[in-house]
Amino acid sequence: MQKIIVDGGLPLYGEISVQTAKNAALPIIAACILTDEPVVIENCPHLNDINAMIDIVRHLGCFAQFDGDDLTVCCKDISLNVINSDLTGKLRSSIFILGSILSRCRRAYISHPGGCEIGLRPIDLHIAGLKSLSVKIEDDCGVICCDGLEMHSGVINLDFASVGATENLMMAGALLDGETVIVNAAREPEIVDLAAFINAMGGKITGAGESIIRIVGVKKLHGCRYRPMPDRICAGTYLAAVAATGGNVTVKDVVPEHILGITERLKKTGARISVRGSSVRITADGRPRPIHKLETNVYPAFPTDMQPQFCAMLTRASGSSVIIENLFENRFGYTNELLRMGAAITVKDRIAVVNGVPTLHGAAVRACDLRGGAALVIAALAAEGRSVVYCPEHIDRGYEHIETDFALLGAKIRRVTE
Ligand code: UD1
Repeated sequence: MQKIIVDGGLPLYGEISVQTAKNAALPIIAACILTDEPVVIENCPHLNDINAMIDIVRHLGCFAQFDGDDLTVCCKDISLNVINSDLTGKLRSSIFILGSILSRCRRAYISHPGGCEIGLRPIDLHIAGLKSLSVKIEDDCGVICCDGLEMHSGVINLDFASVGATENLMMAGALLDGETVIVNAAREPEIVDLAAFINAMGGKITGAGESIIRIVGVKKLHGCRYRPMPDRICAGTYLAAVAATGGNVTVKDVVPEHILGITERLKKTGARISVRGSSVRITADGRPRPIHKLETNVYPAFPTDMQPQFCAMLTRASGSSVIIENLFENRFGYTNELLRMGAAITVKDRIAVVNGVPTLHGAAVRACDLRGGAALVIAALAAEGRSVVYCPEHIDRGYEHIETDFALLGAKIRRVTE
């Protein structure tokens, strides 16, 4: 059993680089299935979610191996094995691999990914989108069986701009004859990165980052080397931590435009933000100011994946903040743990009212999901005294080495294995 021990109350100082984005690398690994040639994903993060995707690719008979930080994937041969629930249960977003398997093999079988700690995560948009491309889909005792023998390009209208569905359908269209158009596509930077990757393999995708994406299918894609974008949520997590503890930190290797929705809200808390090239510097002291209304929504609005970290920071604010979670119906579970540290938070449905308190105190808390776990680490860094964060494996799904990163910035934090 592992736990992270934090002796909090210290400001953070120094410089830190962010890892490559997990949420960009995951669909890129899935998209490697589109070619029979080797692909090298440079600087691919070593994370549990990435390992889960590697397991899925290997289960399909493909080669995937890290050499240092570079991941080579080669999908020369593919077996259409059922991707069973042992695999999809570890990585619920694995559903978006359907598009690339179908585009390449015209058949695919995957177990329903099921529910999730932060919400129901239905897959209706993925299914409806694939059906628009004439994929026949049946549910056989929890296994989604896709027959794409009559698959063709077409126009897909997404009812909601889902990130995963947009990625799935971009991959599905990549090798189809003719033009596939996704209307009301998600506009997240990870979508732009996936399009750039597919185009680096010889694909023809335009409009990524806008609401209408056009995919002109090509006969064949080739291998390439590709370095995915920096992780905007990791960058935001470090910045939010400094706003909570005070200090002065430069977060390097980021794309500042990707995190504008985050930095603009940090300014509201009184933190000073300056941008120079690919570095963002934050200076904060004293208690953060409250944010009267913090609402999550699709990019470029404030990201749901930063909601818990901001909530942790606002527990120390000099007034009351209201947080509205618009994307996931069950994303405030971590607040019960923050209460143990002396936070004053009331949650009703998708709204949390956070009444700032002057200090949090250390406590034993349990991470229940990835970003909620990161929020507990931030609260522990800001709290007076010792905290123990149990179940850090949830945090390891998205952060390569959260405790060494914060230790580098002067925090008293370490991981203990029992
Ligand atoms: C991706 C990110 C995740 C982030 C989320 C929103 C990855 C691997 N994960 O997840 O970290 O929190 O975007 O920015 O990139 N929905 C449906 N039906 C569907 C699909 C989605 O109702 O078929 C709903 C979901 O339940 C959720 C909302 O749409 O309420 C957003 O989901 P979506 O944009 O698809 O997120 P993911 O791709 O799962």
